[in-house]
Amino acid sequence: MSGQGLFISFEGIDGSGKSTQARLLAGVLRETGREVVLTREPGGSTGAEEIRKLVLEGAGDRWSPETEVLLFTAARRDHLERVIAPALGRGAVVISDRFADSTRVYQGVGRADLRPLVDDLHRLVIGQEPDLTLLIDIDPATGLARAGARGGGEARFESFGLALQERLRAGFLALAGEVPERVVVIDGAREAQAVASEVARVVAARLA
Ligand code: ADP
Ligand code: TYD
Repeated sequence: MSGQGLFISFEGIDGSGKSTQARLLAGVLRETGREVVLTREPGGSTGAEEIRKLVLEGAGDRWSPETEVLLFTAARRDHLERVIAPALGRGAVVISDRFADSTRVYQGVGRADLRPLVDDLHRLVIGQEPDLTLLIDIDPATGLARAGARGGGEARFESFGLALQERLRAGFLALAGEVPERVVVIDGAREAQAVASEVARVVAARLA
């Protein structure tokens, strides 16, 4: 475990239901009396939320994939220093809606073939993995339809379309195969409460 706390991340393509599941899990764990820090990436700290605006808003070609890797990693470093590491040190459960696997997949195999750069930077300035990652797996058409219905101005990545989401889904499943002891694949194509029950079972088994 990280420090005395527990670090859990949710991963998956856009619209897979990560935010919904992260919120539901936070509620379940708070009922057990544990301190829970629910956070997200890109963002989660004041500085990282400012970087979030830079990367998620504006035209698709605003940043190259290489620049994106630097921006997402800078945001993660700030988030880790100021929010995640202190919370784990206090013994809290940290639930992050996305973490480093998103960079491995979105910039590493989705947007571009940059996995070596992503891995080098991670080793140099992050060096932290979650104790447990819940990969919410969903068919990309369903994910995009859900994300589109949500609206808002943060659609830069969704604007890259269905083919990218297909590559991302395959990338996440391949990553789960690389580190099966950390990444648990959850079928997201069910009613939210059914997904939440499975998530709660997996987390309870880890906490035991
Ligand atoms: P993500 O964080 O992965 O993008 P969200 O949790 O924000 O996904 O969900 C995207 C949209 O889909 C939201 O409008 C949400 O209410 C809805 N949604 C989430 N989970 C489900 C589910 N299991 N079935 C149907 N709709 C869902
Ligand atoms: P998020 O708000 O979680 O989007 P969604 O709710 O649609 O899943 O994340 C914003 C976008 O940023 C999402 O399209 C994935 C992308 N992203 C990366 O490309 N690399 C990263 O390292 C992170 C954390 C996110």
